[in-house]
Amino acid sequence: MFQLYSCHLSAKISNENKEDVKISQFPHGFLFGTSTSSYQVEGGYLDDGKGLNNWDVFSHIPGNIENNDNGDVANDHYHRFLEDIEIMNSLGVNAYRFSISWARILPKGRLGEVNPSGIRFYNNLIDNLLLRGIEPFVTIYHHELPQELEDRYGSWLSPLIQEDFVHFAKTCFENFGERVKYWTTLNEPNLFTEMAYIRGRYPPARCSPPFGNCSVGNSDTEPLIVLHNMLLSHAKAVKLYRQSFQEKHGGCIGIVAAARMYEPLRNESELDQVAVRRKLAFKLGWMLDPLVYGDYPRQMHEYLGNNLQSFTEEETKYIKGSVDFIGINHYSTLYAKDCLHSVCSCTQFLCSSGGDRAIEGFTSTTGERNGIPIGEPTGMSGIFVVPKGMEKIINYIKERYNNIPVYVTENGYSSPRQKNEQLLLHDVERINYHKNYLAALVRAIKKGADVRGYFVWSLTDNLEWTEGFSVRYGLYHVDRQTLQRIPKLSATWYKNFLNYDKDQQ
Ligand code: NOJ
Repeated sequence: MFQLYSCHLSAKISNENKEDVKISQFPHGFLFGTSTSSYQVEGGYLDDGKGLNNWDVFSHIPGNIENNDNGDVANDHYHRFLEDIEIMNSLGVNAYRFSISWARILPKGRLGEVNPSGIRFYNNLIDNLLLRGIEPFVTIYHHELPQELEDRYGSWLSPLIQEDFVHFAKTCFENFGERVKYWTTLNEPNLFTEMAYIRGRYPPARCSPPFGNCSVGNSDTEPLIVLHNMLLSHAKAVKLYRQSFQEKHGGCIGIVAAARMYEPLRNESELDQVAVRRKLAFKLGWMLDPLVYGDYPRQMHEYLGNNLQSFTEEETKYIKGSVDFIGINHYSTLYAKDCLHSVCSCTQFLCSSGGDRAIEGFTSTTGERNGIPIGEPTGMSGIFVVPKGMEKIINYIKERYNNIPVYVTENGYSSPRQKNEQLLLHDVERINYHKNYLAALVRAIKKGADVRGYFVWSLTDNLEWTEGFSVRYGLYHVDRQTLQRIPKLSATWYKNFLNYDKDQQ
């Protein structure tokens, strides 16, 4: 049986030093799981009292999502969760990361009633996971919220969201807290903010040139307001959890950051090395520094001045130290180029989207150097296979945040967009990706990083937001006609990896 989690469990790792990664190289009690999110897999669109969420509305507008896909049915996990749990059980995972659909629990936010069917669904999911020895690792917010909150006051742009979020979190703690020992408040606020308020690609699709051509929004100021509200919402929910639930239930609470790594574009350039650090501060430090140290990074103050929000003394008290652990979603590494002292030529990847702007930390990023990609490209543009980035990002977090416990809440490979099912199932690239990233993780752990879990994104192919179903990250392929789950070679690999020690006994 897997060891029960304790917030203060210290990492011990075996001395085994083999090239091929083995489960025995990870600390005792390490969580190995798969990850999903509600909108991407559940379906059950308006079933049993669920309210409309922002993605329901957004995805129904033609042209917003590739092939006009939407999450109305998705993988029908809402009705097939038992089958999905069986699949996880057969793999041998000891944890499952999923998120709770806000609109399924509180269709109208704080002003409406709790939907009992929504509570029942997650109760069933949690109970059945626990029955099979699988720890629920729960994300409270993963990009979707009741449309009502968008219509009423503009969701994350308004401080009113903070009380709504705390109310939602409280409803989750009250109903599921006795059984859920791992909570994360928000998934990737740093990336969500970029996608929804800088690039305008996620609802509410706000942005301004040169980042994008939305009809509304301001890409220089709104992201700062939105992230500020997200951080305060997080901190207030954590305060409540710690005051009223943590001791009673014995769980832990953290947050999940999108954690891309960067390398200097011009190796020898001191300016690009500084740009790498500045970019990391603007992307990762932006959300994590306040939660650990109580304020935004020095570089952000320096370059954003009064545009940057500030925390009151009272807020600083509860935002500082408001994470028991940090979750990171790590997939890839990009080159970073300084745009503060040099002119950024906008022929470079992403440069045209504003690398020379303060909000981007005056840094442009690109996946190529002299036409050579930084790593093997994947089915997702801007995502390259760079395993050593895993070791580097873990090390960066270890150094910057005093070796706070870390969970790799997502890591995964999206297959090239070929249609041939046989090729999709024979996903050797995905296996190599995971092996190499896990080996890099082992190196970071051996150097002392306190990493406690790893989740593959994703259990099944699912709705990859605006890319629809054409970008596939799953260990299982889902037939879009029958919704049958079909194991890929990588599912067998993960199963063998997870069961290696048992098989040796
Ligand atoms: C991060 C997000 O949390 C998840 O929703 C998304 O599908 C994966 N990365 C892959 O892009």
